[in-house]
Amino acid sequence: MLSVAVCVSGGGTNLQAIIDAVESGRIVNTKIVKVISNNPNARALKRAADAGIEGICVSPRSYETREAFNQALLEALTAAEPDLIVLAGFMVAVPACVINAFRGRIINIHPALIPSFCGKGYYGLHVHEKVLERGVKVTGATVHFVDEDLDHGPILLQKAVAVKENDTPEILQRRVMEEAEWILLPSAISLIAQGRVWIDEKGITHIKES
Ligand code: GRF
Repeated sequence: MLSVAVCVSGGGTNLQAIIDAVESGRIVNTKIVKVISNNPNARALKRAADAGIEGICVSPRSYETREAFNQALLEALTAAEPDLIVLAGFMVAVPACVINAFRGRIINIHPALIPSFCGKGYYGLHVHEKVLERGVKVTGATVHFVDEDLDHGPILLQKAVAVKENDTPEILQRRVMEEAEWILLPSAISLIAQGRVWIDEKGITHIKES
C-alpha cells in the first residue's frame, strides 16, 4: 500500500480528484495519510476532513523565521511516514531539507506543458495569462518529480489542452484542470503505486507496461 501525503494551499480540486480516484479504485493500492496546508483557510482542508483524512495547517506566519517553518514542514511530513508526497496546488517553494529527505518521492502538478510556461512567476492564474499573451494554441498540464530547481525534475506525465478563441485566464484554467490536471495526477499516483515508474541515469522517466 502506497502511503501518500498531499500538500495543498487553496481550493483543493486536485486533492478532491485524488480522494475520488482512491475511493472509486481508479487509483489502486494507495492510502492518503495526511493533508498539509500552508493556508489555514484552504478549502482543501475541509475536503480532507469530509473524507476522514487528517488535515493540518503549517503556516509560515506561525514561525519567526523561514528556517523554522521549513523544519516544521519537514517534521509534519516525516511524522506521516509517506512513501510519496504529492504537491497538489501547493504554493510554497519546497525547502531543500524536504527535497533531501524525500528525494525522488515528491511529485508536483504544473498547469502547463513544461518546459514552456514554467519557473519563477509561473504559478496559479499567471500561467494561463502568459499562455494567452503569447498566443500559443496548445497548453496542458505536467506531472513531474520535484528537485531543487523550480518546475525542473523528471517529467512523468503530460496532457495537451486546446487554447480556444475568447478564452480568459479563468476559462482556460478550468479547462486545463478538467481535461488534464484531474486526470493526470490520479494516473501518476496509481502508476507509482503499481511500481511501474522508473527514472534512468539521464533523468528520463519511464513507465513499465502493466
Ligand atoms: C492548479 O491549477 C495547480 O496546477 C496549480 O494550482 C492550482 C490548484 O488548484 N499549481 P486546486 O487547489 O487543486 O483546486
